[in-house]
Amino acid sequence: MNKKKILAGNLKMNLLSQAERNKYLELLEKALKGTSLANVDLVLFPPIVHLEAFQKKIGKKVALGGQNVFSEQRGSYTGEISPAMIKNFGGDWVLVGHSERRRYFSEKNEEIALKLSAALKSGLAPILCVGESRVERDNQETLKVISRQLKDCLVEINRTKLEKITIAYEPIWAVGTDITPTTHEIMEAKVLIQKVLVEMFGKKYVEKTRIIYGGSVHLTNLEQVCLKSEMEGALIGRESLSPHEFIKMAKIFNTF
Ligand code: PGA
Repeated sequence: MNKKKILAGNLKMNLLSQAERNKYLELLEKALKGTSLANVDLVLFPPIVHLEAFQKKIGKKVALGGQNVFSEQRGSYTGEISPAMIKNFGGDWVLVGHSERRRYFSEKNEEIALKLSAALKSGLAPILCVGESRVERDNQETLKVISRQLKDCLVEINRTKLEKITIAYEPIWAVGTDITPTTHEIMEAKVLIQKVLVEMFGKKYVEKTRIIYGGSVHLTNLEQVCLKSEMEGALIGRESLSPHEFIKMAKIFNTF
């Protein structure tokens, strides 16, 4: 099945002021002008404080989402953002289980599983990030780690909801490092992810689930890490801070 590609940009903790944000949006609008990207799902994950402004300015052309979400909808949870908030302020997507959340905020698979369910209940489309560390890869534990992450994080998911979830393969050692796996290693990870999903849910329910790659993707290596490896899209960190480059990548996906 030829699935529509996803190009997702995780802006992380950047765009520190209204001025920086406005400049970004201006450049993005310019890059988008006159383009038709009907064959690609274009999604941006701005810092949550900018969600509404992004929605107003480019919400018609680019889908939006939150970089993180909490598992409860409302209440005394100081500092947290609920799925309903993301939805009501213009987001349709959410990143769940990003390796930086796991690393700096000690997020565990069990917590990620709850976040996934809560996000789905509010009608958000989650991108679940999985991937091994360098040490785990060197110890030949990639298979074990990814399969554990998928099994634990998807434990609450009803098979009919699976198609709403995208899986991002993001080896931790490739995020923010400018080191990328080979095309073959990425293909291997995709096959492994598909195999675990089929085991868990059955072939029929897995067909629509998209598997994308993330970790040091740039315009210059997009072909090697995403197209040749037959990934169904990409999750871009740093390069998405340059709207011009980001939209160029979207155009490549759109025509592929
Ligand atoms: P990077 O980040 O492209 O800067 O490596 C990827 C990500 O965090 O999803």
